[in-house]
Amino acid sequence: MKQEILTLGIETSCDETAASVVRGRFEPLSNIVASQTDIHDKYGGIVPELACRRHAELIGSVVGSAIETAKVTLADIDLVAVTRGPGLVGALLVGLSYAKGLAWGRKLPLVGVNHLNGHITAGLVSNPMAPLPALCLLVSGGHTELYTMEAPGALLKIGSTRDDAAGEALDKVARMLGLGYPGGPVIEKMAKGSEARFDLPVALSRKDTLDFSFSGPKTAAKYLIRDLMATGDPLPVEDICASFQKAVIDALEQKTALAAKWRKPKSIIVAGGVACNGPLRERMNLLGERLGVEVVIPPPVLCSDNAVMIAVAGAIEYLNNPEDPAFRDFNSMDADSGWAPSR
Ligand code: KG4
Ligand code: ZN
Repeated sequence: MKQEILTLGIETSCDETAASVVRGRFEPLSNIVASQTDIHDKYGGIVPELACRRHAELIGSVVGSAIETAKVTLADIDLVAVTRGPGLVGALLVGLSYAKGLAWGRKLPLVGVNHLNGHITAGLVSNPMAPLPALCLLVSGGHTELYTMEAPGALLKIGSTRDDAAGEALDKVARMLGLGYPGGPVIEKMAKGSEARFDLPVALSRKDTLDFSFSGPKTAAKYLIRDLMATGDPLPVEDICASFQKAVIDALEQKTALAAKWRKPKSIIVAGGVACNGPLRERMNLLGERLGVEVVIPPPVLCSDNAVMIAVAGAIEYLNNPEDPAFRDFNSMDADSGWAPSR
């Protein structure tokens, strides 16, 4: 085997068709992401059937451009890594089938990667030297969870949302305000320079638990919007966005701080699409300073869905035990829409 293997990563779990080539464990040579937000925007959320069709249309050209941008050829690839779950099952199947065909045809090993492990692994891409054990806050559209990570990929779930994920709640509140999809980035934009003057509850804040809850604050936002509309005055959309964003960030910060107090991690990794949020990044960095713990937050391109994180997580798993027959057992490698990464 070459010293530095080349991994082709493929990601199609939700509404981004993505492919990348990574050298060794941590060196991205390309990162191609074709977003579908334009086709889902008018529906206020992802339409699974439309997502699958678009993945099927784009997968070939996205993989082609990942290889071309990396200035390699298909013949140079040593390993294929693909998201196997969790996600929309039809969307996962597009990437998984493509990856299986490619790996089978070229007689390459194939790793089925957990998407959530991928998000957290993005922290190791931005800092391969991050001291472990790490406390990992994963905040995406479908998940809000806390993990401890003792070694790359060895995750233990210690907290999660009891209802909506943070990103999902941001998306829903944006929809109530007629701001389109995805909601997180537009809420951040509207909130900038505005005042968080409406008091929205931070659920479970006084409880000794590492769980989150975002459906209460979301419902409180719904009633706030209803009551403000009833006054007949123009709706203060910016201040509502600032207030809801603050309630979400307060909850994320509080539970991360509590987990850090209990677990005493050597670093804190914040990952997932919501980690693109500027004020959240600031608050987490301040928390790290206060606790004297290194905080690792990948750059936004590695926080939202991408295939670098999948290639890296796949390469790490493969290099731990390259002879594992599972990497050649394509028949057992099924899409798993509810796959949890925790042991
Ligand atoms: O990780 P991701 O790209 O996809 C999933 O695996 O779910 O996360 C998507 C989520 C969406 O809910 C989106 O609104 C949110 O990340 N998001 C943000 C920002 N950018 C994306 N939330 C807050 N602020 C942002 N700047
Ligand atoms: Zn994701």
